[in-house]
Amino acid sequence: MVASAYKKSGGQPLAFVHVFLYQKRCFNLVIKNLTTYIKHRIWPLHDKNAVEAYDLWAATYDSQPGNLMLDLDELVFSKMLNTIGLENKQVADIGCGTGRHWPKVFQKNPAGLTGFDVSPGMLEKLKDKFPKSNTRVITDDLFSDIKDSSYDVIISTLTVAHIEFMEDTLLAWCRILKDNGEIIITDFHPDMLALGGKRTFSHQNNRISVRNFVHTTALIRQILLKKNFQLIYQEELKIDESVKHYYLAQNALPVYEKFKGSPVIYGMHFRRA
Ligand SMILES: C[S@@+](CC[C@H](N)C(=O)[O-])C[C@H]1O[C@@H](n2cnc3c(N)ncnc32)[C@H](O)[C@@H]1O
Repeated sequence: MVASAYKKSGGQPLAFVHVFLYQKRCFNLVIKNLTTYIKHRIWPLHDKNAVEAYDLWAATYDSQPGNLMLDLDELVFSKMLNTIGLENKQVADIGCGTGRHWPKVFQKNPAGLTGFDVSPGMLEKLKDKFPKSNTRVITDDLFSDIKDSSYDVIISTLTVAHIEFMEDTLLAWCRILKDNGEIIITDFHPDMLALGGKRTFSHQNNRISVRNFVHTTALIRQILLKKNFQLIYQEELKIDESVKHYYLAQNALPVYEKFKGSPVIYGMHFRRA
């Protein structure tokens, strides 16, 4: 590397330092990407269902700086939340997890906020942060023990792709919503899941991926429009240069190249007419 830098710099000391440092950076990057590639080859992913996976993920879920999905979700969800009034309304957060969005929801003075989740571990973390909160562990997606027309608004962030039977579930959401109810959904984009995208995390030296189901945004729209909902707003964000640094920080440039141009997250806001 020294000889090559010397040759390229034409023997000029400053140019030599510049070229040498540049080549060293490139070399380090190649080694990092190679290490990540080999690690992923010999360190296989363990696929788990949502309950098992999130019970493990709960301990570290709230401390994930540089998590692309969480950062993009913050943008997409906040934008939709800002357009909706929650004063004196009953809100259900389905797949509430650790209540990541709850401070923003509470700021809008709802009459009540109920968190539903399949993972007791995630709800325990939520309870640590909001001890008086109203939460329920759910074991099916039909909300059989919830009365019709109980909620004004359902929010559900980064969750619906974990739900297997989308139509039955959305029909249950329609049932527990009041007549003029609203639904705000965000999630990992189905196109990305269809291309092999996964939600993954590390736990005790294991790489774990959470089982997902591909439900297109068209399917979700179709089910809700049939139940008299109108689509108020929809947004999709794509993998582009603006998020490349997330992949660089994870030594995952090949993943960036694979998914560049693909939508990564969507948000939809529906209101029943
Ligand atoms: C990626 S986390 C999102 C948590 C939170 N909404 C957020 O945005 O940070 C997905 C959550 O959905 C929950 N979940 C998975 N399947 C579910 C289902 N069928 N019904 C309700 N919650 C579910 C998981 O336990 C987990 O807490």
